[in-house]
Amino acid sequence: MAKKRIGILTSGGDCPGLNATIRGVAKACFEKMGTDSVQIVGIQNGYYGLINNIARDMDPSEFSGILTQGGTILGTKRQPFKMMSVIEEDNVDKVKAMKDTYKAQKLDCLLTLGGNGTHKTANLLSEEGLNVIGLPKTIDNDIFGTDVTFGFHTAVDTATDVIDRLHTTAASHSRILMVEIMGNKAGWLTLYSGIAGGADIIIIPEIPYDTDKVVAALSKRSAAGKTFSIVAVAEGAFDVAEAQMKKKERAKKRLEEGITTATARLAAQVQKGTGIETRVCTPGHMLRGGSPSAYDRILATKFGVRAAELIADGKYGYSVAMINGAIGENKLKDVAGKTKFVDPDCSYVRTAKNIGVSFGD
Ligand code: F6P
Repeated sequence: MAKKRIGILTSGGDCPGLNATIRGVAKACFEKMGTDSVQIVGIQNGYYGLINNIARDMDPSEFSGILTQGGTILGTKRQPFKMMSVIEEDNVDKVKAMKDTYKAQKLDCLLTLGGNGTHKTANLLSEEGLNVIGLPKTIDNDIFGTDVTFGFHTAVDTATDVIDRLHTTAASHSRILMVEIMGNKAGWLTLYSGIAGGADIIIIPEIPYDTDKVVAALSKRSAAGKTFSIVAVAEGAFDVAEAQMKKKERAKKRLEEGITTATARLAAQVQKGTGIETRVCTPGHMLRGGSPSAYDRILATKFGVRAAELIADGKYGYSVAMINGAIGENKLKDVAGKTKFVDPDCSYVRTAKNIGVSFGD
């Protein structure tokens, strides 16, 4: 009997746990269906590899020793969803090309490990008739329909470590230290690491901040004898005035005013308003690096096993998820194109507020 050919790709920004998930899927498929009945086909650099037919049959040995490895052994690339159906200068019909590769590689199904953009393209391919299963990765934790994405908790640990380290230097120099944490649309990573790291102020996109209130909260701490403060700011944060604007309008205004990031602007405003020396720390891509935490290794393995079960059952058009604490799946069409935002009234925000953390609102 011909082997079941399972294509696998990682797309979008990388995160810890991608390799652990690849390993989980492969090992579970071998276990469930037999090594002789399964061929894993690794597609290089995400949808770019699918468009350009850059793929290879992988040896089972390639899935050993990668549980702890950060990044992705398959490589990844950003391939914006909004351009997928647009024919550009190269004249390539990308959707057709992806379907052609699927056919040329004789795939029985395709696993896409990625975030929101990846899921939108996965849904498109599913609607085009391919057998697709999504697996939710991102340090942003903003994929709709799953309690958690793999990569998130490792990034929370890393960001928390950054904040811990900022405490000692902020205290030594009696400064305000502002840390900009990745998360363009959603503030999950800033919220979790802000609480875990003991930040005094947490600024997230879901709660537009009032600069005067941030300054007032920091001045109050100073008046109470606190010699330093830590402010955790999400990369995608904006103030109350910007909250009234459309994304493009906001970006245009910032460009005109020479503002690079909300964090840099807020730091300058805070230094002026409080009279306290204020510095910015941007860990950036460090938050995406390193070995997955124990939590993420387990989550990745559980997600991988569920994906293998879906393949064995011939259940396609789904994205594996953690739903109310249990492993399950959502229909791709129900989650693609939606974002999971922080509810400003959720228990995490309320917990932080209950211990005196300001969100600048
Ligand atoms: O993958 C998510 C993410 O890390 C976001 O938090 C961040 O805004 C973005 O990716 C950065 O993307 P890039 O690595 O392409 O600059």
